[in-house]
Amino acid sequence: MTDGAECVRVDLGPRSYDVRIGAGLLARAGAEIAPLLARPRVAVLTDETVARLHLEALRDGLGGIAMTSLALPAGEATKGWPEFSRAVDWLLAGKVERRDIVVAFGGGVIGDLAGFAAAVLRRGVRFVQIPTTLLAQVDSSVGGKTGINSVHGKNLIGAFHQPSLVLADIAVLETLPARDFLSGYGEVVKYGLLGDAAFFDWLEANGPVLARGDRAARQAAVRRSVAMKARIVERDETEEGDRALLNLGHTFCHALEKATGYSARLLHGEGVAIGCTLAFELSQRLGLCSQEAPSRVRAHLRAMGMKVDLSDIPGELPGAEALMSLMAQDKKVVDGRLRFILARGIGEALVADDVPGDAVLRLLEGALAGR
Ligand SMILES: NC(=O)c1ccc[n+]([C@@H]2O[C@H](COP(=O)([O-])OP(=O)(O)OC[C@H]3O[C@@H](n4cnc5c(N)ncnc54)[C@H](O)[C@@H]3O)[C@@H](O)[C@H]2O)c1
Repeated sequence: MTDGAECVRVDLGPRSYDVRIGAGLLARAGAEIAPLLARPRVAVLTDETVARLHLEALRDGLGGIAMTSLALPAGEATKGWPEFSRAVDWLLAGKVERRDIVVAFGGGVIGDLAGFAAAVLRRGVRFVQIPTTLLAQVDSSVGGKTGINSVHGKNLIGAFHQPSLVLADIAVLETLPARDFLSGYGEVVKYGLLGDAAFFDWLEANGPVLARGDRAARQAAVRRSVAMKARIVERDETEEGDRALLNLGHTFCHALEKATGYSARLLHGEGVAIGCTLAFELSQRLGLCSQEAPSRVRAHLRAMGMKVDLSDIPGELPGAEALMSLMAQDKKVVDGRLRFILARGIGEALVADDVPGDAVLRLLEGALAGR
């Protein structure tokens, strides 16, 4: 039963695809994927946690479509060359051909790695995303950014490769640990903050029931997030301009993730939430928005039980200067100037290419002093 599944179309000419969103999509994965197949078989890349919880349900849902699968270790450390080459070699050993479909079944780690594997396998095969975390459903499974991490930083190796279909089964989120769910919620809030003030109002009212498991609220939040991402990606598929708005909070987040060694001290969406708070505070200090905006951001994140401040990150952090230099290594640096996504208010983000370094330094000094 799909229980009222909805569909968001990502309109990219010959690379267009549907994102289907609803509870129970796993059970009808076969019917959804069959129209894409040249022959009735798929190769599934997943992680060990998702495999244990949901792989049999996917196998059942695929019905008459034969499935082979490779389960990689769960976690960000998988998103590097060793597991990537293992995955590509497994696909080649399984004789996955140009017209076949690779399925990415997991969170953002598996989606990014499997999408990149599909992008380079035999110079490109199609792939289907079946995202199983909130973060992957609202963000990483849509838009075609695929890739892996390097010793030089996150996501530095990759390709734009759009999926052929995305199946976001809301029911699968019910096995997600609360912390991972809330981490994904950081990206949901980001959409309200960057371009949809009414959505942020809605989240203030509905966030708590959504976190407690209300399927209708979850589906509405995923649909609205995906729709916003789809419209931005349609305008700017390869991030020449507007797509950068999706990086609200991310320059701070990437520095903090690097400072905490991409460890369990800070999950990606938690870093995004802290980064959004910092971006709004910076916007207020630069006179772009009123004090009310950062206060509302902070109040909502606190009400949801999320990380908000640098003091919410356990353990030591480097000083403000060191955090600045980590930001300068971020790939969004253009000609040595720091690019930030700032805001004129809730729902009104903008790309600022020339942010004065000393304002950022003072902001970080203040934030660290609050620890
Ligand atoms: N491509 C993009 O546009 C994009 C956008 C945002 C983030 N990302 C990437 O996404 C990654 C983070 O994604 P993530 O937060 O999904 O992390 P993840 O893939 O590591 O998943 C988080 C944890 O949840 C587990 N899990 C997944 N689904 C589950 C389920 N239904 N029930 C129980 N446990 C489950 C996983 O095994 C893992 O331990 C980062 O590498 C980030 O760079 C990519």
